[in-house]
Amino acid sequence: MLEPLLRIENLSLGFRSEGKITPVTDAVSFEVREGEVFGLAGESGCGKTVTCLGLLRLLPAATSVVLSGHAWYRGRDLLSMNAEEMRAVRGREISMIFQEPSAALNPLLPVKTQLLFPFQQHKNSDLKGREPLQRIRDLLVCVGFRDPDRVLRSYPHELSGGMLQRVMIAHALLLEPKLILADEPTTALDVTIQAQVLDLLAELQRDTGVGVLLITHNLNLIAQYADRAAVMYAGRVVESGPALDLLRDPRHPYSRGLLDALPNLDTAQVPKSIPGSVPPPGKYPTGCRFHDRCPRVFEPCTTDPVWSEPAPERRVACHLYSQTVDGSR
Ligand SMILES: Nc1ncnc2c1ncn2[C@@H]1O[C@H](COP(=O)(O)OP(=O)(O)O)[C@@H](O)[C@H]1O
Ligand SMILES: [Mg+2]
Repeated sequence: MLEPLLRIENLSLGFRSEGKITPVTDAVSFEVREGEVFGLAGESGCGKTVTCLGLLRLLPAATSVVLSGHAWYRGRDLLSMNAEEMRAVRGREISMIFQEPSAALNPLLPVKTQLLFPFQQHKNSDLKGREPLQRIRDLLVCVGFRDPDRVLRSYPHELSGGMLQRVMIAHALLLEPKLILADEPTTALDVTIQAQVLDLLAELQRDTGVGVLLITHNLNLIAQYADRAAVMYAGRVVESGPALDLLRDPRHPYSRGLLDALPNLDTAQVPKSIPGSVPPPGKYPTGCRFHDRCPRVFEPCTTDPVWSEPAPERRVACHLYSQTVDGSR
């Protein structure tokens, strides 16, 4: 089978504090294939951002620890690359769109200077001389700006949140990456702008064939934009599969709970919240980490569930499904 763009394999990350290591993510595995949108869902604090920053080695070097596992980009081991190799991959091969565009841009520099940075950092990019500026202008038009030169002259505070996020999408596409990590790219935006920005990202994704890891706590966005998806809970992936399948027929009680917590205009059913909250790292319960909030909890749940494959391409880590695929979580 074709090597996927990104393959995360049993990745466990943690943080060191006062001489003690606290694991945050545990044996996270998923892959993003060439040209697809892969959705990673889960409540705040599940470890989605840590996973994403960890694979790009953007976590604080002094306190973060890779406890085990691998992250492969087109068959290349991201976690064993030296700093120079990593810099060559970041921005050029894999780029990232952050939740807060205003935090990702420097308030003291005009947009033009900031959009030219990637070309200066990656001198081996194929674009020379005035071409980078033309590419920037073209991309700004692509992301919906009629007057790109006005945007280029602006400072971040002169642009709205939606405009800034469109600038960040253009920024992420500058060097024609193969993979974009979009971490809650629209959470900070108004709902109407959210749809515009995501539609744009989806259109650019279709046109360029770039792979996208779409991280969100909003399952509706996964249903609308992702081809395949995984659901994370308390540092672990608990279920994965084709996005629509997974959302139409979630197998893990946590995925079910997330869906039932959404308003449904078709059935007018009152949204039901999941009692309790995601435990912080260091306070994860033993066994299935969801068991103390789970409506279907039964005796085996205090032991670790193994993976089952209840349908083709579907995987779930829950004791309700007994058939074992392999020993890993
Ligand atoms: N730099 C850090 N040092 C220590 N703990 C961190 C750090 N970054 C994140 N965490 C912790 O890791 C957990 C997962 O966080 P995060 O990946 O941001 O969640 P999500 O993106 O799913 O909302 C949280 O409990 C958070 O407090
Ligand atoms: Mg996050």
